[in-house]
Amino acid sequence: MSVLLEVAGLTKRFPVRGGAVHAVSDVSFTIEEGESLGLVGESGSGKTTTGRCILRLVEPTAGTVRFRGRDITALGRRDLRAARADMQVVFQEPYESLNPRMTVHQIVEEHLLLHRPELSKADRAAQVAELLDKVSLRSEHGRRRPHELSGGQQQRVGIARAIATDPAFLVLDEPTSSLDVSVRAQILELLLGLQRDLGLSYLFISHDLSTIQYSCTRVAVMYLGRIVEVGPTREVFEEPRHPYTRALLSALLRPDVDQSVSRIQLEGEIPSAITLPPGCAFASRCPVAIGACVEAVPELRRVAGDAQRAACLRAEEIPALMATPGPG
Ligand SMILES: Nc1ncnc2c1ncn2[C@@H]1O[C@H](COP(=O)(O)OP(=O)(O)OP(=O)(O)O)[C@@H](O)[C@H]1O
Ligand SMILES: [Mg+2]
Repeated sequence: MSVLLEVAGLTKRFPVRGGAVHAVSDVSFTIEEGESLGLVGESGSGKTTTGRCILRLVEPTAGTVRFRGRDITALGRRDLRAARADMQVVFQEPYESLNPRMTVHQIVEEHLLLHRPELSKADRAAQVAELLDKVSLRSEHGRRRPHELSGGQQQRVGIARAIATDPAFLVLDEPTSSLDVSVRAQILELLLGLQRDLGLSYLFISHDLSTIQYSCTRVAVMYLGRIVEVGPTREVFEEPRHPYTRALLSALLRPDVDQSVSRIQLEGEIPSAITLPPGCAFASRCPVAIGACVEAVPELRRVAGDAQRAACLRAEEIPALMATPGPG
């Protein structure tokens, strides 16, 4: 496998009165061809901003994003537009992301008009029909407008639009969270099927750990703008090395079913993203923090296996210190 996307030192600060929101700080990771990297973390941890910076839907403050070796952050408008044929996004709220005045056919056709101007009208129509078929919509859906569709169908349109230009990489920003529980699994299966068939790579953003566990080979955990743990999903879920990952996973456990496990209750304040503390941002809530934790931001370093890394001074001790088992 070869590296498709390489994010290095990605940083985004939003200027606000009284300073700046540190939405994303020094985030680095890679995604290989055909791989899905899950990105998890609480609301406000910077997942969406990370995804948007990669596509330059928001401009990063610092850092580089290399796609097939090419630095996306350095591209001018025209080259960026061309690069977007290869990198697309599926949004959390399908309805809000679809133009209500356009028909489904027009929405799916739009990127083809932009990126494949050489296609004849008939060829475009044939491609749109094929795309609708790929997301299991019928041709009659093409004549409808977004409000005439169910939430699940709207998201299928958003997915058809995203794959219209035959991209290699998609940012999936909570693609199922706004949907009815009954259709979430269908949309997830659609995304995983398309990944297999089209060889897509995903950055799969979700606060739902079981979705990530099911769909991603690797996972990165964010807390207040930084990646605090990253590694193969199985290893991170079985033996998390960052106390925050452990707390997140313990929320998935069922103490009512298995009396031997207990949830980790986080206490303490979440720091403001405007005035971040000098040390580990999790220290104020961390049950095992020590003095050194508040002195400097711990680096993301290798702690176990080949690929599991955590940004915790006590990473090696965490399994013994916080003996709650992962859900396995
Ligand atoms: N345009 C903006 N201006 C100012 N602050 C912003 C802006 N966009 C995001 N933020 C802030 O940046 C931080 C990260 O937000 P982001 O939306 O990336 O988080 P998230 O992990 O996607 O959260 P959620 O799970 O709720 O979607 C938050 O503190 C948010 O309030
Ligand atoms: Mg978000």
